[in-house]
Amino acid sequence: MNRVVEVVEDKSALIARSLALTVEKIMEATRDRGQCTIALSGGSTPKPLYEAIAAQSLPWDKIHVFWGDERYVPPTDPDSNEGMARGAWLDRVALPPENIHPMPTGASDPAADAETHDAQLRDFFKSSAGEFPEFDIILLGMGDDGHTASLFPHTEALDVRDRLITVGNKDGQPRLTFTVPLINRARCVIFVVAGTSKQPALEQIFAETADERAYPSRQIQPAGELYWLLDRAAGEAIEQRINF
Ligand code: 6PG
Repeated sequence: MNRVVEVVEDKSALIARSLALTVEKIMEATRDRGQCTIALSGGSTPKPLYEAIAAQSLPWDKIHVFWGDERYVPPTDPDSNEGMARGAWLDRVALPPENIHPMPTGASDPAADAETHDAQLRDFFKSSAGEFPEFDIILLGMGDDGHTASLFPHTEALDVRDRLITVGNKDGQPRLTFTVPLINRARCVIFVVAGTSKQPALEQIFAETADERAYPSRQIQPAGELYWLLDRAAGEAIEQRINF
């Protein structure tokens, strides 16, 4: 793993840097492998990034979009990560509908939908049992508590090592999420984190030692590239400590 930490001045600089890096990795994947598989993060931070990507001229037919986690709601629900990305980006570009691979949330059974999506990913990547596919890019956010995707502190989802997709749990609310081993297989993982509320968790995540079940983002140690893109409000506390 080669970890790069970049702290930029403010939110707009963070979105600009995240856009540049994401576009660079998309173009690298389509050039080298003929397609790009990218998994999106949810929450509020990435929405302006998705809006900025939609304004780019990219080889949309070569880009396949997935989600790293999803709230267990229909895509029409205001909480839906799929709904947010469709509104901010996917509905605004000529990306073929068959290139969009949302997490299913319609079975009224999160575990069943998790198994369905696990099988969908294995089919798309032609992965055999026990094999974890390599996404070209996985975008991640981080919660104030240090969670990422829907891998929340001290939850069972953190310990799943034999599946691609599992059921996450946020305060009793089910979610679907990539597992730690699936995220760690990615060629490039990009965290995009903004705001002072993230500082305490970032200090734990970048500390020499800390409980990685209390701060799940510590478990993201991909074999490929790992970028932490932070605005100063989030990253100033660790900026001095990390040799850039
Ligand atoms: C989600 C996300 C989650 C998010 C963090 C940060 O479904 O909410 O995937 O992991 O990235 O909670 O959220 P903000 O960007 O809103 O702070």
